[in-house]
Amino acid sequence: MSRYPETRLRRLRQSAPLRALVRETSLEPRQLVLPMFVREGLTEAAPIGSMPGVAQHSLDSLRRAATDAADAGVGGVMLFGVPEVRDAVGSGADDPDGILNVATAAIATEVGDALVVQTDLCLDEFTDHGHCGVLDARGAVDNDATLDRYRSMALAQAAAGSQLLGLSGMMDGQVAALRDALDAAGFQDTLLLAYSAKYASAFYGPFREAVDSQLRGDRRTYQMDAGNRREGVREALFDVNEGADIVMVKPAMAFLDVLREVRDAVDVPVWAYQVSGEYAMIEAAAANGWIDRRAAVLESLLSIRRAGADAVLTYWAVEAARWLAGR
Ligand code: PBG
Repeated sequence: MSRYPETRLRRLRQSAPLRALVRETSLEPRQLVLPMFVREGLTEAAPIGSMPGVAQHSLDSLRRAATDAADAGVGGVMLFGVPEVRDAVGSGADDPDGILNVATAAIATEVGDALVVQTDLCLDEFTDHGHCGVLDARGAVDNDATLDRYRSMALAQAAAGSQLLGLSGMMDGQVAALRDALDAAGFQDTLLLAYSAKYASAFYGPFREAVDSQLRGDRRTYQMDAGNRREGVREALFDVNEGADIVMVKPAMAFLDVLREVRDAVDVPVWAYQVSGEYAMIEAAAANGWIDRRAAVLESLLSIRRAGADAVLTYWAVEAARWLAGR
């Protein structure tokens, strides 16, 4: 029987313990990954205006913040490097003395046993034109020449101690290329997280400030068109076929339908990235007193988990982990 009055759906909602008992989706600190920015040449952390509460770190402040993240029980940290000098091919990216690789080594030593140390594998922070790859004679992003740069980056990051590489560049064939390069060099255990369905999104706006992006124009020749859902699933299946250990949908909240479809289509873990613009919107509304900050943050994360994410990259990872632990 499933009609009123024999059946009363509100019966399941009458007390907090009952609601907790029947809640379908959980949110736990271990399912959160904190993206972190480390900037070459800083002696102390510098705030990012469009992301209140998020900073560009110095090596020292990064170490402290990574330790805080481990203490809060988050599952991992994802490192982004901001170099002092950029060039056309992003030489700082695969230089063992480049800021991202130096920071990775420091963090791996400090917290590598307590959480999963992860690195962004993309050229955009390191190129003087701000694109995610190298350019051909016509100024277009050259897919296959970029793969050569990515292979070199992957080896440098793995050698520095990164346990999981976040492939965010949206080049075709990047997963297979990096799996081959890593295996040939003895890095069989280094994991590959494919940013499979990464959309060309307006919600990356604040991130461009966070990494001092040099980009003019957009990334629409390699990142996905926001209108495409089937193609997001296709990208994820391709990446699994190429050997991705984990696939990702990004941004999160504007693409929850894609997230659900990808979760249903693949048999590897699926992650989502709650990006800078998603963070900034909630922070701005909360700063104005227009929404309850904590409730909105937790609801946003729960919605991403409910849509199918096994883990979520979020700038609130540490704070949310503390709330969830009741601290
Ligand atoms: C590119 C990259 C971007 C983000 C993560 N990796 C920016 C872009 O693709 O333009 C955005 C993350 C965010 O907005 O929080 N390496």
